Amino acid sequence: MDTSKPLSTTIAGQKLESCIFNASGPKCTTQEELDALGQSAAGAILSKSATLEYRAGNEKPRYYETEWGSINSMGLPNEGYEFYANYAAKAVTHNKPYIISVSGMSSEDNIHIVKELAGNENIAAIELNLSCPNLPGKPQTGYDFEQSRALLEKIFEVAGQPLGVKLPPYFDIPHFEMMAEVLNDFPISFATCINSIGNGLVIDTEEECVVIRPKHGFGGIGGDFIKPTALANVRKFYTLLKDDVDIIGVGGIKNGMDAFEHILCGAGAVQIGTQLMREGTDCFTRIASELQNIMRKKGYTSIDDFKGTLKNMDA
Ligand code: DHB
Repeated sequence: MDTSKPLSTTIAGQKLESCIFNASGPKCTTQEELDALGQSAAGAILSKSATLEYRAGNEKPRYYETEWGSINSMGLPNEGYEFYANYAAKAVTHNKPYIISVSGMSSEDNIHIVKELAGNENIAAIELNLSCPNLPGKPQTGYDFEQSRALLEKIFEVAGQPLGVKLPPYFDIPHFEMMAEVLNDFPISFATCINSIGNGLVIDTEEECVVIRPKHGFGGIGGDFIKPTALANVRKFYTLLKDDVDIIGVGGIKNGMDAFEHILCGAGAVQIGTQLMREGTDCFTRIASELQNIMRKKGYTSIDDFKGTLKNMDA
């Protein structure tokens, strides 16, 4: 471990100089946004979830921020996977891993996209999104364990790069176990926990109205409120998945202490969603310096010193 870079980490066999990078979704759709991530202190560049073709997404307003977080129903606006594949040649100039999030509109689309990406050496890894909550009429794959298994069986026949999954939040112990049982049958490289808490509702009491237009105001919740759920998911999958599977923590991280908590639960890297929307790419520098200060005070010289070491009271 390079002690001059206390935040360095390895995810899917790829070295990241900082364990902090963007969540798929905020500010990672356009060339300008991807370049800004490349130029920032983010440890990797992760794309917006890509579909087969360009999508304009749901009607606006489709994102809203409150003091405690955010609600979104974006509807997968993105440039189409070929754009994100082509960006890989540019991404290498930023000297950090470039990961493409894939969220096809069907299993067939996902298989097609992952197969098409397979030969591209400038793509470090793929984050297969099993948890988009915002497509009317389409359940989240991650809540259907058999469908998840069937998809992964086909995906690993065609995958060329290390592949991880973006999971929805689970709330019931048997569900954690059932998903872990599926994932442990495949050579996944990482699991990213968690996507937004799906289908929440935020209300403008002055107007007595919902705050986003799609789906009668229902949308994925991010920010402060989701941190305890995110930590529980990171912790559970850290303990249940095979040892060689990295956990990436996402949910409610807005400062160094939040990142510290995720790592204590077992995250080898963390992603920033709502706070990146709020603050822009400067958040990566600030959160990294806050995390380093916490580590210095506690005498930790690398994240491996405390990754997953959360104590139980009965231990
Ligand atoms: C969208 C939201 C998600 O939570 C996700 O995982 C993928 C896409 C969206 O609405 O664009």
